[in-house]
Amino acid sequence: MLLHLQTWKDVEDYLRHSTGIVVPIGSTEQHGPTGLIGTDAICGEVIGRGVGEAAGAMVAPTVAVGMAQHHLAFAGSMTLRPTTLIAVIRDTVESLARHGFTRFYFVNGHGGNVATVTAAFSEIYAEASLHPAGNRPAVKCKLRNWYDASGVRAISRELFGAAEGSHATPSEVSLTWYAYPEAVRTAPLDPPIAPSGGFTDAADYRRNFPDGRIGSNPGLASVEAGKRLYETAVKELAEDYRAFVAAP
Ligand code: NI
Repeated sequence: MLLHLQTWKDVEDYLRHSTGIVVPIGSTEQHGPTGLIGTDAICGEVIGRGVGEAAGAMVAPTVAVGMAQHHLAFAGSMTLRPTTLIAVIRDTVESLARHGFTRFYFVNGHGGNVATVTAAFSEIYAEASLHPAGNRPAVKCKLRNWYDASGVRAISRELFGAAEGSHATPSEVSLTWYAYPEAVRTAPLDPPIAPSGGFTDAADYRRNFPDGRIGSNPGLASVEAGKRLYETAVKELAEDYRAFVAAP
């Protein structure tokens, strides 16, 4: 059930039996020589929509631009400053809470969002805690990274081992190829497994990781792997979503 394909009456009907909503969140940033700019947004969106189907949940529009300042030395990358992303998440939650949604399940595709999204949740809770009337009908938010699901980790280890890395991974590239088979492509990857390490700003990142990858060999990606990752992630997160909305 996609929010943007409902009418307001449909949403009122939904709220009579559930106050949960899935919010896909990702990023729009370079993903190495073979990965799509939209990789993280696509991953959050396809898993989030899959969870919505499996659990009968409403799914909000995808927050497609995240906190990705470190990728800005590569063409096509976009970022929201941390403060902007916090504002976007607060307004997203507050808009929907006004109608009666109380359980916000964020399905995330980008590691660089985690600190900022967590800070946004703290802002939302702080506002409720500081309000003179005390807690409103309790709004609860949860962040799940699809790539951290235990079944997903197991498949990544089995298929890609040390070539999984941490950016432009074969797992995330596989998932985007499963969603968009027309995007399958090859390109020279030298060395096959990219270097690992840390970074600060965009220039530092590009110096350390010249083709954009970190620790990964996305040359191992496949549509078949993407299908396994999709099915496993959706099953695990749909169960987790159901438990989240059922809890007091
Ligand atoms: Ni990514």
